[in-house]
Amino acid sequence: MELRVDKHVEFIKSLEKKKDFDSMVMEHLRMNGAYWGLTALDLMGCREDVDDAKVISWLLQCKHDCGGFSGNIGHDPHILYTLSAVQILAIYDRMELLDSDKAASYIASLQQEDGSFAGDEWGEIDTRFSYCALCCLSLLKRLDVINVEKAVDYIASCKNFDGGFGSIPGGESHAGQIFCCVSALAIAGALHHIDKDLLGWWLCERQVKSGGLNGRPEKQPDVCYSWWVLSSLVTLGRVDWIDKEKLKTFILDCQDTEEGGISDRPNDAVDVFHTFFGVAGLSLLDYPGLKRIDAVYALPVDVVKRIFG
Ligand code: FPP
Ligand code: ZN
Repeated sequence: MELRVDKHVEFIKSLEKKKDFDSMVMEHLRMNGAYWGLTALDLMGCREDVDDAKVISWLLQCKHDCGGFSGNIGHDPHILYTLSAVQILAIYDRMELLDSDKAASYIASLQQEDGSFAGDEWGEIDTRFSYCALCCLSLLKRLDVINVEKAVDYIASCKNFDGGFGSIPGGESHAGQIFCCVSALAIAGALHHIDKDLLGWWLCERQVKSGGLNGRPEKQPDVCYSWWVLSSLVTLGRVDWIDKEKLKTFILDCQDTEEGGISDRPNDAVDVFHTFFGVAGLSLLDYPGLKRIDAVYALPVDVVKRIFG
C-alpha cells in the first residue's frame, strides 16, 4: 500500500471546518492539534493549503501577558501549548511575532528547585515538561534563563534499571517519556547519561509481530509509538535495530484510504494526532516524497536548519 497524501491533506483541512463533538472535546488541545496538522501538511509538502494569516491571528490571541500560550482563546497558559505555539511560528518563520524574553521568562518561572519543570502554575511535575522547556528555549536561543545542569540532573534521576525513563523519579519506563528525556538530554548535550545499548535494546523490543511498535512491554502496538520509539532510536543511532519495512507496512495499514487520516491500529477511527505521528514515523523511515523530520525538535529538518544554520 502507498501513502495516500491527497486523502490525508483533505482530512486535515476538513478538521478546521468541522464543528462536531470530537472537535469540541478537543478544543482545549487546539494548539497541539494545529501543530500536528500543520507539521503533517508541511512534511507532505502541502502547507500552502491552509490560510497562514488566520492561523497566526488565532495563535496570537492565545498569548498571555505572562509570556505563555494556552490551548485555545480564553484558556489558561501551559508549557505544552507554549511549545506548540513556538513550533508553529518556527514553521512559518515568524518567530519575531513572539516576545521571546517574555516567553523565556514564563518557562524559567516553571523550573523547580530540583531542576524539574511544572506544566503550569498548578504545579504538576513531569519529564514531558522538561522536554517542552528545553526544546522551546533552545528554539528561542534562550537556554541561558534556566539552570540546564539541574534540569539534566533531574532527568537523569528519572532513569530506570532498564535504561528507560519515567515521568518522575521511580516512574515506570514509557516510550513517550523516553522520547522526552532522550531529546531533552540531546538538546542539553548530555546524552552521556544514557546507556545507548541498554536503552536501544528496550526500544527495539517494542516491535511486535505485526511490525507496529508498543509503548511498554505487553501493550498493543500503536502508530504514535512509531514516533516516540523510532525518534529515540534515531537520536541514539540504533534505528537499524528494528525491522523498518515491517513498521512502514504497519503504519500504511492504519490509513483510512477513503476518508483520509491515520488511526492508532488498523481499522480504528482516524484522528489528527495519529495522522501526524504516522506521517512523522514514515518521514523518519525516509518514505519517498516526504520531507525529513528532525527526531529531537519534531519539526521539519529544513526548519531546524534555518534556525540553527
Ligand atoms: C504518550 O502519551 C506520550 C507521552 C507521555 C509523551 C508526550 C510528549 C509531549 C506531549 C511533548 C511534546 C511532543 C512533541 C512531539 C513535540 P499517551 O498518554 O497517549 O500514552 P499511553 O499510550 O500510555 O496512553
Ligand atoms: Zn496512540
